Amino acid sequence: MFPETVLHSRRLVLRAFGTRDIPDTRASCSDSLTQRWLPLPRPYTLDDATAWCTTTAHAMRDSGDGIQFAITDAGTKRLMGQVGLKKTDWRALVSEVGYWVSPWARGHGIAVEATRTLAHWLLINQRFQRMELRAATENTASQAVALKAGFHREGTLRNAGFVYGGRVDLVLFSLLPGDLGSSTDPTKTR
Ligand SMILES: CC(C)(COP(=O)(O)OP(=O)(O)OC[C@H]1O[C@@H](n2cnc3c(N)ncnc32)[C@H](O)[C@@H]1OP(=O)(O)O)[C@@H](O)C(=O)NCCC(=O)NCCS
Repeated sequence: MFPETVLHSRRLVLRAFGTRDIPDTRASCSDSLTQRWLPLPRPYTLDDATAWCTTTAHAMRDSGDGIQFAITDAGTKRLMGQVGLKKTDWRALVSEVGYWVSPWARGHGIAVEATRTLAHWLLINQRFQRMELRAATENTASQAVALKAGFHREGTLRNAGFVYGGRVDLVLFSLLPGDLGSSTDPTKTR
């Protein structure tokens, strides 16, 4: 399993979810854009947010599936979103990133900064060989995040995903250690 970890970048602290995140997680996961692209419970209740923040997110690390981080503002400490790893293949050293950003934090590069920070930790510190990202073909915002974070677009996975609107094709992206190049280590830009 991944070690319990806190990651820092220029504007953000990525840490484990806790009870203090319950109200903002409920608001973020009830949001219509989050609900459009992620197969979350609908309606997303206070019980759902409580289960995620206190149990489910932690169980994903305990089981070896991945690790989940609350994206928080380094200054105000407020929740800004979620970024995490899932479906980890420990023999191939491959894991898949996923994220949502809270409605009040969108449009400021938070998803890109959080994804780059997690990628650096996974591919350099944890010595993984590949980070994958899948986004619905119509989810242009998520694809823009992937490209801006340095991922390569590999192709389309037909009928590979599902959202409330129905089944969707997914675009597959990947990031390898060499793709991080000589760009600044986001975890050291405080
Ligand atoms: C996708 C999402 C995480 C983006 O978060 P964000 O922090 O606002 O994204 P960023 O500010 O880092 O934006 C990165 C790039 O994406 C582009 N982008 C962001 N939102 C966009 C939108 N709604 N439409 C088109 N492009 C968008 C930005 O233009 C930016 O590029 P730029 O700086 O050159 O302008 C957010 O919209 C979200 O939470 N969506 C719902 C959940 C979701 O789709 N998760 C991903 C599932 S695969």
